[in-house]
Amino acid sequence: MYTGGKMIPFFDLKEFIESLEKPRKILLMVKAGEAVDTLLSQLTPLLTKGDIIIDGGNSFFKDTIRREQQLKEQGLFFVGMGVSGGEEGARRGPSLMPGGSKQAWESLKPILKSISARDFHQGDCVIHIGENGSGHYVKMIHNGIEYIDMQLIAETYWIMKEGLRMSNETIAETFKQWNEGRLNSFLIEITTKILQTKNKYGEYVLDTILDSAGSKGTGKWTSEEALELGTPSFGFMAAVLARYASAHKKKRVLLSKTFEKKITEKTNISLVQLEEALYVSKILAYTQGYELLVEAAKTYDWKLDLKEISRIWEGGCIIRAHFLEELENAFLEENTKTSIILASAFKQTILSGIDSLRYVAQKSIACALPIPAFLSGITYYDNITNEKVSANMIQAQRDFFGAHTFQKEIDGEYTHHQWEV
Ligand code: 6PG
Repeated sequence: MYTGGKMIPFFDLKEFIESLEKPRKILLMVKAGEAVDTLLSQLTPLLTKGDIIIDGGNSFFKDTIRREQQLKEQGLFFVGMGVSGGEEGARRGPSLMPGGSKQAWESLKPILKSISARDFHQGDCVIHIGENGSGHYVKMIHNGIEYIDMQLIAETYWIMKEGLRMSNETIAETFKQWNEGRLNSFLIEITTKILQTKNKYGEYVLDTILDSAGSKGTGKWTSEEALELGTPSFGFMAAVLARYASAHKKKRVLLSKTFEKKITEKTNISLVQLEEALYVSKILAYTQGYELLVEAAKTYDWKLDLKEISRIWEGGCIIRAHFLEELENAFLEENTKTSIILASAFKQTILSGIDSLRYVAQKSIACALPIPAFLSGITYYDNITNEKVSANMIQAQRDFFGAHTFQKEIDGEYTHHQWEV
């Protein structure tokens, strides 16, 4: 229990519940999954009508929908709340994404506002996201974007190290400079520090870390959701699969012996092009994230305020970045409803920067550098901005072998052709 600056530990659940003022407000911060259900089954018999349980873990949004419904039937409120900020967020204020009923939000609002981080204009990094599982959904998308952002930075570091043969110090210096410009973000900031950090033996800590990345599920869920809702989110998949590929370290070691890379020359990508490629890819990553949010709002019947969601990510959370203020303002424009890349802050940047992304991708491939996140950006862009793609062939093949039918124009009738076998 927390009472104005004082933490009081309890060892008996009943005693703890009885010590709370009604309506009780209980925040759970436990591992997503079974632990939440176990705790709920222990807590709910002790609670009375109107009490609120908040799940601040990274729970799967469909579990949250189910739990909210179950507790509602018992006269209790269940708030699935996305919390981002890691250890620093816990101490200085996180970005909070509570879902659930409006009534529960009204009761929690003063507390959540007082503990949240601040946006660029001293606003609170918390809003009522929407009904049932929407808070955890938005946090899931935050994490999906976080995965792409991290992967893009990692690939950029790798291009500088392996392609441009730069030292850790020079790479750090480059990220530091970029952090003073449009790429300013928490993740770039910590990347600089990571690149500079040495252990007691004088070695760079980064160079001692195995290149095999873990994950806990939110990136995978985002990719699964994109598959479920049918959005062309190449970025989420690329970022998750890159982690999976990295985790096959033993296999990579074995195969690298046969399929040795013989690139000896430095590549000729300029740092200006690399920065541009990274920024354009970042815009494309968010475009995909928000595209999925729009689809989710329709599917799950949520009213998501994308402008406000961008604002509450300006402070406290892992993807906090200056860019988010541009994004927040982009939602004042009508065009953004079609796609973020049409917003005036991004359209010209994409048009003039896309060639740098293409160039960086080509040169990296020529050097055999794995760059799935950069490639996913260009793949997304080329798929979504081309009036014509190759799918007429897919439709023809489907119709040929399975009479799946095809359309000849947008919203047109479905017809079948009598193909000659
Ligand atoms: C945050 C983070 C946090 C955590 C995730 C990602 O916003 O504070 O996203 O939730 O880092 O669990 O974890 P994995 O990278 O292990 O999947």
